[in-house]
Amino acid sequence: MTRTVDSRFRPRGRRHPKIYAFMLECGGSTKTTSATSMAVEAALRGYPGTIFDFDANRSTTTILGYDEEAMKGRKTVLDLIHGTAILDEVALPARYRVGDDYDDDAFAYIPGLRLVPSCKEMSTADTAIAEDADRQDWFAEILLGYDGDDDDVFWLDFPASYGRMVYSVIRMLDEDDAVIPSVRADPKDVKLLVPLFEELDRVREKNRLRRSVPGRPTVNHLILTAPPLPVTPKHRPGRPRRSPSPCTATSSRRTSGTPPTPRSCTTTAALCPSSCRTLSRQSTTGS
Ligand SMILES: Nc1ncnc2c1ncn2[C@@H]1O[C@H](COP(=O)(O)OP(=O)(O)OP(=O)(O)O)[C@@H](O)[C@H]1O
Ligand SMILES: [Mg+2]
Repeated sequence: MTRTVDSRFRPRGRRHPKIYAFMLECGGSTKTTSATSMAVEAALRGYPGTIFDFDANRSTTTILGYDEEAMKGRKTVLDLIHGTAILDEVALPARYRVGDDYDDDAFAYIPGLRLVPSCKEMSTADTAIAEDADRQDWFAEILLGYDGDDDDVFWLDFPASYGRMVYSVIRMLDEDDAVIPSVRADPKDVKLLVPLFEELDRVREKNRLRRSVPGRPTVNHLILTAPPLPVTPKHRPGRPRRSPSPCTATSSRRTSGTPPTPRSCTTTAALCPSSCRTLSRQSTTGS
């Protein structure tokens, strides 16, 4: 029997899943919450998926049922990067706590959703890739060797920085995949879309002539969120409320994989004319 593959999940007849990447160089911009809630919602509606936690803060890993204790002795995404495990050895069934302790019956499982967990040591991933040039291809190998369901999708939750590890993943995206900046609806944070578009342009330019690397990560959707701001004791009516924005921005003029130099959100580069063109060309709201 011939299987019909839904082209929504396998664009251009490719074998590996469609990819949704939540990416923005801004801490607390709601990437993890958006990625996990969309992945869970999709799975519950019958669209299976695998969510990758790339952040050393392990937020997605914890939200989907694996705290530090539960992760003891388990493999993580860092094993994929080092090439010491394959995807099926690392992926865990996503779950949530319904009882005490760590027995199986202390958790309920989310059907159709797998988690590729992170670990604190993910902070060393950029160095691991820098020290062994072969490791740059780790995500490409996962995609090429993918042999899962025909309607599986990949959800990626990135840290708030653009280093070598992020580059090794994001260069494998095509225009049919989606980079989704999940950003707070605050003018200061929305400005951080500019360095994102610059970073994506840089990835495209670096891979323009390569045949084995799609190199076309594209913002197809944008999520604007409105997390509540904490009310501080210092706040008085009539006095401007200061956002506790933990955002950092990074110079986009660096070379590939150079560790980012964080600087305060308030000193983020102003919208430059070329970036404005990029924004109006690529950005859409909603899906
Ligand atoms: N749509 C939303 N509405 C209200 N609050 C939200 C929403 N999305 C996220 N939050 C809250 O905002 C905070 C930051 O969210 P989250 O951890 O998802 O951000 P992040 O971009 O992943 O941060 P980091 O870069 O540090 O990993 C959390 O406290 C979360 O509960
Ligand atoms: Mg996060």
